[in-house]
Amino acid sequence: MVKEKLGTAVFISGRGSNFKNLINFSKKKNSPIVIKLLISNNKYAKGISYALNNKIKKKNFDFKNSKKAEKLALDILKKNKIKLICLAGFMKILSKNFIKKFKGKIINIHPSLLPKYKGLNTHARVLMNNEKFSGCTVHFVNSKLDSGQIILQKKIKIKKRDTIRSLERKILKEEYKIYPKAITKILSKN
Ligand code: GRF
Repeated sequence: MVKEKLGTAVFISGRGSNFKNLINFSKKKNSPIVIKLLISNNKYAKGISYALNNKIKKKNFDFKNSKKAEKLALDILKKNKIKLICLAGFMKILSKNFIKKFKGKIINIHPSLLPKYKGLNTHARVLMNNEKFSGCTVHFVNSKLDSGQIILQKKIKIKKRDTIRSLERKILKEEYKIYPKAITKILSKN
């Protein structure tokens, strides 16, 4: 019996390269998800173009009033029968109340070896501290920044000549691999 693909929403704020990667993943025959909705908090986010190109419904909410934005988001998530939320470069922190409504069904990707280097400007801080390794992490979202239970992590070696840009590039490549893997991992347990 073919299992029905899980209705998924992706939340972004900017470039959206992970969103694009997740769209490609969702189109694979064995993918457990179908991306039905893009939510952004920035109407100029470059990643919105991937929703347009792939005929994915998109909504922009101004999170300056986050309570209102979350309420509107919850409505549309419900309407579209969304069961999984993937944050991908979404620069807002979701409230406890919102997270409760999707308990265990919101995940995020972060470009560091969590619990190290939560928050912004990860690569710059990693290089400044002369770390030998960095990487990326997919984790469940809780109400604290970059702090939920880890699902998958990939470590990479830092070279002496690495810069913020080269490190970002190397880590993004790994992000594109582990985000789909992490989704498959959590959904295969259902
Ligand atoms: C990625 O490095 C992701 O790990 C972090 O924000 C960046 C988003 O990049 N949360 P993109 O918008 O997916 O290209």
